[in-house]
Amino acid sequence: MNMLDLTLLINGEEHEAQVKPGESLLRVLRRLGFFSVKFGDEHGESGSDTVLLDGKPVNSVLYLAAQAEGHEIQTVESMGEHPDLAWKESRGLHILQQEFVKTGAIQCGYCTPGQLLAAKELLDREPDPTEDQVRDALSGVLCRCTGYVKPVQAVLRAGARLRGERVPSLDRPLKAPPEWTGDDFPQGPPPAAEVRGAEGDVLTAERVISELKVAAEPKVWKQVGKPKEKVDAKKLVQGKPAFAADFERRDMLYAKILHSPHAHARITHIDAEKAREIPGVEAVLTYKDIPRVPYSTAGQSDPIPGPLDCFSLDNKVRFVGDRVAFAAAESEEIAERALEEIEVEYEILEPVLDPREAMKPDAPVIHDEEDYIPHEGSEPERNLAEKIRIDIGDVEKGFSEADFVLEEEYEVPKVQQAHIEPHAVVTYWDEDDRLVIRTSTQVPFHVRRMIAPVLGLPVKRIRVIKPRIGGGFGNKQEMLIEDVAAHLTVATGKPVQFVYTREEEFIASRTRHPMHIRVKTGVKKDGTITANEMYALSDTGANGAHALTVAGNTGHKAMALYVGDGPYRESPNIRYYTDIVYTNRVPSGAYRGYGVPQGFWPLERHLDKVAEKVGMDPISFRIKNALRAGEIHPFSTVWSEGRDPQPELIQTNGLEECIRRGKEAVDWDQKHAVESWHKVEGKPHLRRGIGIATVMQGTAIPYLDMGGASLKLNDDGSFNLLVGATDLGTGSDTVLGQMAAEILGVPLEDIIVYSSDTDMTPFDKGAYASSTTYISGAAVVDAATKVAERIRARAAMMLNEQEGKPAVKAAEIELGERLAKAPDGRNVTMEEIALHSLHHKKQEQIMGTGSFYTPVSPPPFAAQFAEVTVDIETGQVIVDRLLFAVDAGMIVNPITASGQVEGGMAQALGYAVSEEMLVNQKGEPRERDFREYHIFEAHEMPEMETLFVETFEPSHPFGVKAVAEIPMDGVAPAVGNAVYNACGADISDNPVTPEKVWRALKKSAR
Ligand code: FES
Repeated sequence: MNMLDLTLLINGEEHEAQVKPGESLLRVLRRLGFFSVKFGDEHGESGSDTVLLDGKPVNSVLYLAAQAEGHEIQTVESMGEHPDLAWKESRGLHILQQEFVKTGAIQCGYCTPGQLLAAKELLDREPDPTEDQVRDALSGVLCRCTGYVKPVQAVLRAGARLRGERVPSLDRPLKAPPEWTGDDFPQGPPPAAEVRGAEGDVLTAERVISELKVAAEPKVWKQVGKPKEKVDAKKLVQGKPAFAADFERRDMLYAKILHSPHAHARITHIDAEKAREIPGVEAVLTYKDIPRVPYSTAGQSDPIPGPLDCFSLDNKVRFVGDRVAFAAAESEEIAERALEEIEVEYEILEPVLDPREAMKPDAPVIHDEEDYIPHEGSEPERNLAEKIRIDIGDVEKGFSEADFVLEEEYEVPKVQQAHIEPHAVVTYWDEDDRLVIRTSTQVPFHVRRMIAPVLGLPVKRIRVIKPRIGGGFGNKQEMLIEDVAAHLTVATGKPVQFVYTREEEFIASRTRHPMHIRVKTGVKKDGTITANEMYALSDTGANGAHALTVAGNTGHKAMALYVGDGPYRESPNIRYYTDIVYTNRVPSGAYRGYGVPQGFWPLERHLDKVAEKVGMDPISFRIKNALRAGEIHPFSTVWSEGRDPQPELIQTNGLEECIRRGKEAVDWDQKHAVESWHKVEGKPHLRRGIGIATVMQGTAIPYLDMGGASLKLNDDGSFNLLVGATDLGTGSDTVLGQMAAEILGVPLEDIIVYSSDTDMTPFDKGAYASSTTYISGAAVVDAATKVAERIRARAAMMLNEQEGKPAVKAAEIELGERLAKAPDGRNVTMEEIALHSLHHKKQEQIMGTGSFYTPVSPPPFAAQFAEVTVDIETGQVIVDRLLFAVDAGMIVNPITASGQVEGGMAQALGYAVSEEMLVNQKGEPRERDFREYHIFEAHEMPEMETLFVETFEPSHPFGVKAVAEIPMDGVAPAVGNAVYNACGADISDNPVTPEKVWRALKKSAR
């Protein structure tokens, strides 16, 4: 091929590059080592590929490298550098980078370089931008993690600083001024407003995160509970090559998959010989070339709670996008050409696309293979992957005692996690002939265990490294593409990189399970629930990964929240049945919330109608029937993800306080039932509405989830903290570091956190089930406590070497401010202890390992409020405001925790009003990119607020519960209820699209 010799001016320096005529600027920049420029999708819609060309943002994936010659290209590598570069003077981070670090604008960090460049261009052009201008500038760079609240705040603060203005410190949560509070209890977040400093100069507007305490803080903590900067933020604002696809190896090959064009077909003939002859192609694999091993892709603990119904390659395809063959070649283009040369003939089979058809006696059987390994509830001949039947109390008796029974049907859609970093993996044999798998996974230890039999290698010959992850939201709790690269490395002996395209993410990864749900509720005239029943028909798609546990969670969390009142509270009547069926659609799997959002959409919509039937305010109705502290979690006596259930006492429950505080903050009493508020002056076609949903989640899986941590002391008094836990952008590395720092009496910057590598770090079950802060955090506390004991003993030894001084006992020594302090005021520094223990006397490595598993899963509780405006002529719904008041136990880091809530609400907003995945009659997916599958952009977001109602959960040393998943649960039903409140449109299927609202309005003609 003719190549072009280009000279590209990048960040002020000339770079020579040989490029193919059609090669994108993205590809060439990355080849030249500018890894801050990220691949997010083929069409530039994600914006993670943004660079500045002559100062203007462009999508480098769309721009040809040849077009860029003669222009000035700027990437984030040029913006700033680490403030400490040894003897060399550093210019430090750019003010924008500093503010992204300080405000917590970075979660996974995959979009961050693109956002920084977009913001820089704005501030260069408009030094004093409005919030709308900032949102417009950021709207070309999609972020799936943050909800854009903190990136917008970071840009506004950076603009102010660049103009020479002061900005408020974020070292501790800001105190709301008295005029915003009224009494000694903060009244929720004040509106963004201009704030004046002590000298009267303007401070940039801030939205305050209120800290509402319903439990006294047990002691004054120095690291825990504080808004610390993320430990990984500096590298991410510089765009360092931290992600899986940023890793290079000599002779690396590039993999591609041939995907099925048919939803259901048998491969009758496949021939890859022509493909193998193409120069540059190193391997083409079909089902004939590799061992046939049934497995599950679900990254879960052993034994996998589900059927083994996947094969790396099979002679049958079960959805459009299923695997047909793998190719590895010197370049992605050659690998793609190889796929085109593979000859495949199919016997087309009738597809099953509707779960209601799947269990009919004459339905085509999707898993008819003889080596299918069923789980307890599997009946593959009926397309049934799993089923659950749970009866608590006497449900029929409960219904017979009710004054009213309301039964309705609901539906929830298939939606995509849409993390901006696609799945990415690199595999290679190391110098000891062990297979190294460097992969963007949430579950490195599960991947190592699960891939071993698939490859025919013992676990000990495999090392899985989890680098920085660009978001996962459950979709990376799956062994999805690791086997592809690994088979190709085995076949070729060479390193192989495989990165999904955005289209592959949509047609060949995992999704949330769609469900058809029936809810039946019996209620007395006074609003007491006497019985509650849910049946969920869940569509697991072509494979049953997470089939049982997701659908189990739907009932376990949603149906557990309302137990009834009076005698029904003592002995609730609850039924939850579910069938999880195979269809010929892309498999469903884990997605943040893990079945719970599917349960709360129908339940919370339903209960508003039940409350209306008995003439009660929806809030009083919920409080009357909701689970309380001191009661047994009703499902804990009957179900535990397929394991033996153990009764679990709810020790902390701040739900009523969440409702009370949230209700005050949104001014519920002046809105919900106030007719005049619903109308918009001068706009007769608009109606306002407000809605609530109350929700609960879990914290880890009891008697199963385990995390480990190890800590060691270094010469300078710093510590290495090694954890198997997986930070996906959630900030878990930071909060785990804060807990270690708290116990060791050092600042967070003295804790060097590393996660995770199956060779180097202790086991951790991975990032899922809202468990890292709780489980892995308690493991860190265990390890740190052991290390602290050794430090005290060493300090006592050192102090007792001092002649003429009273003896000191180790137990009397306190750790703090990098010191070990005796009661008489004498002290030794952490560095002196380190040098003494490593070099001076009775040498030892001070280190400790800890682990934690839990017998309980303490639920976080929350009240989600939504305000909407509905256009009753078009059905258009605008969500104006979301407010989330949550009891997630003690908050370790208010910045990372509120970031989790904001990002979760933003994702849940898509579930509420816009996101869904559809197929045509042949099972061909409609959504294949971010044009068809719209996720919210910065300028489309409503106002979002978070209130933390802190309780101290006694089962954890720092009193924490989970916060990551619960923000997903309530937005959709709160919006649905708000739409009903606004205009009477009763929507049973989310998302709440204009067409559904318009049709419902025509029907109800309110
Ligand atoms: S922080 Fe924006 S995509 Fe993750």
